[in-house]
Amino acid sequence: MLFKKKTDFKVDSRLSHIAFIMDGNGRWAKKRGLPRKVGHKFGAEAFENTVKNCHKLGIKTVTVYAFSTENWSRPKDEIDAIIGLMEKYIEEAKKYEDIKIVFLGDKSVLPITLQNSIIELENRTSHYDNTLNIAFNYGGRAEIVNACNELIKEGKSSVTEEDINNHLYTKASPDPDLIVRTANEFRLSNFLLWQCAYAEFYISTALWPDFDMKELQKAIKSFYERKRRFGGIIDK
Ligand code: IPE
Ligand code: IPE
Ligand code: MG
Repeated sequence: MLFKKKTDFKVDSRLSHIAFIMDGNGRWAKKRGLPRKVGHKFGAEAFENTVKNCHKLGIKTVTVYAFSTENWSRPKDEIDAIIGLMEKYIEEAKKYEDIKIVFLGDKSVLPITLQNSIIELENRTSHYDNTLNIAFNYGGRAEIVNACNELIKEGKSSVTEEDINNHLYTKASPDPDLIVRTANEFRLSNFLLWQCAYAEFYISTALWPDFDMKELQKAIKSFYERKRRFGGIIDK
């Protein structure tokens, strides 16, 4: 990490991919006596700002967990609000197009208008280098099952790790270097189960709508203090 001023640094190749478990929108709203969907609205703003901040710091790949396969168990009005915010984001994304946007998850059960706008956005941005992966109707287990079924369809009788990698929703991205989860929760909640094999974890006590550049820099600073061994030995 190259520090110039405190607020002015760029990451290096050790940190090419950060993934965020954006948690705590509901608690943020509850603390203020507001409906949960208001928390998601402010969470969507934190998401847009964080993507821009990562871009400023030189992070090439950003992944966000926006809606899990288990989140369908929430009340319908909350789900509708989240879907509405995603539709709005896709509309907004047209303005500052400079990033490849890829949706991770099963699109086929989403409203058809959302499916169409996702496909259009993915196609339109596919030539950019920096990537934003949006995990929406995403589950890590479902992703691995989907990869296995695709391999079976291709007629494979045995598979390698590379085969599985190449059939995950994340096939175009490197594994995440750092997973950041907000709202002080220490679990994966079915996020990137395969890809997290050697990821570093950072837990922030901030609720997602409060996650800002300062919090992001704290996470990055912590990452650079880690010794990643990948099963080997560093100090021989
Ligand atoms: C994260 O915030 C957003 C989604 C899961 C869609 P939550 O809605 O889970 O917020 P809490 O955990 O209830 O505070
Ligand atoms: C994980 O958060 C999913 C997203 C951030 C989209 P949850 O709030 O759904 O996770 P749990 O239920 O606390 O494990
Ligand atoms: Mg939560």
